[in-house]
Order: sequence, then C-alpha cells, then structure tokens
Amino acid sequence: MVKPIVAPSILASDFANLECGCHRVINAGAEWLHIDVMDGHFVPNITLGPPVVKSLRACVARPNDTSSSKPKAFFDCHMMVENPEKWIDVFIENGADQFTFHYETTKDPIGLAKAIKSKGIRAACAIKPATPVDVLFDIAPHLDMALIMTVEPGFGGQKFMHEMMPKVQQLRERFPDLDIQVDGGLGKETIPHAAKAGANVIVAGTSVFTAEDPVDVISFLKDTVSQELSSQGYLN
Ligand code: DX5
Ligand code: ZN
Repeated sequence: MVKPIVAPSILASDFANLECGCHRVINAGAEWLHIDVMDGHFVPNITLGPPVVKSLRACVARPNDTSSSKPKAFFDCHMMVENPEKWIDVFIENGADQFTFHYETTKDPIGLAKAIKSKGIRAACAIKPATPVDVLFDIAPHLDMALIMTVEPGFGGQKFMHEMMPKVQQLRERFPDLDIQVDGGLGKETIPHAAKAGANVIVAGTSVFTAEDPVDVISFLKDTVSQELSSQGYLN
C-alpha cells in the first residue's frame, strides 16, 4: 500500500530565485522537492551540488521538524553521478532525506542501498530507459523507492516515454508496498498513463514550476494517482 506524492524537480526552477520558487510549490501542495544532481560524466550536464542543497535546507525545514515555522519538504536527491558512494555522507550532512543512485553506476546495488539506510535516510535506485526492469527485482526488497526514468537522464523538458510503462506495471504487480517514482515529461497529459501503470511518486519539473497555477497542476497529478491506486487496491 502506497500514497500519492508529487515531487517538483527544482531543475525547472529559476535558480536565482530558488527559495521563492520552492516555497511557492510547497505552498501549492508539494510535500517533496526533487533535487537533480548531475556530474557531467554519468550524464552530459552539470547542475548543482552540496552547497545548494545546504542553502535550500536552511530555508526549507525537514518534514518532521515541528520546531520550525519555515515551509517543510522532504529532499529527494536524484544522484546522476558516477561513484555515488562517495557522496552519501556529504549529501546527508547537507540535508538529503533520500538518496537515489543509478543502477548503472554501481557493481553492488544492494550493498549501496544498505549503506545509505544504515546512515538513517531512505535509499532508492533508478534505472535509465535502456535498463530492463528485472534488474530491480532482487534489489527492491532493500529499497524504499525505485525510480523508472521516463526520459534519458540529463535534461528537463523532454518528452515522456510511454514505452516505459510496462516496467512500472511489472514492478507494481510484484511490489505493492514499494514507492515507485517516474521522472521525466510528467504533467496533466501524461499522468494518466503513469498512474494507470501503478506509479505513486511523480516528479514534475516543467509542468509544475512553469504553471500559472501550481495548485491546480499538483492537485490534478495527486488526484489522478490517488484514483488509480484506489481502484487497483494499492492506496494506503
Ligand atoms: C532529468 C531529471 C528530471 C527532470 C524532469 O534528468 O532527472 O528530474 O528535471 O523534468 P521535466 O519534468 O521537465 O521533464
Ligand atoms: Zn530527476
């Protein structure tokens, strides 16, 4: 059993006004912020690193921080980097709540997931479009979340790949309690496909950050997922 979660990707924000942009989407109903970290090696782009996460954490409290009056969000760090194990500690120190490594970057995904969880945050594993879903079947019991990429990682604003949906469906049938995230090209038009396949954690960059009314987009994404999860018996 799982619940719908919308995770706006800050890659689509105006980095010169990051605090303001993040507060806007949190106030519009987002409980997570999706933080795309790229190293220019695993993917052909460079985005942001630990200092940005640290600055953002200073103005966005952790979800369970009852002593803070600041807007709160869960930091979902999508690590599109080689040697992800090198970065676990520094991202935790700077405010990560979840660390998503790519399956393609490690020889020991289960060991990596265990190492992340042993440090007190959630562990997730992502697969690129060309990676078959069955690589996740043995790893999933050790994960808090699996990420099925619905675009080639590296850039925001790309077209959603419908052909990834059988991967989501196969994973959902086997793991009814696993958070399954989709990332890339999600918005009002594509959410019905992802929801039907069984995804419950929806990354949305362009569609949320460029929306005139982010409340409308976030609630549409959440409601669509909620209805599908409920009709398929997966809603928590
Ligand atoms: C791509 C990133 C995505 C991206 C999604 O490598 O992992 O998170 O920001 O952006 P949209 O929602 O614009 O496709
Ligand atoms: Zn991402």
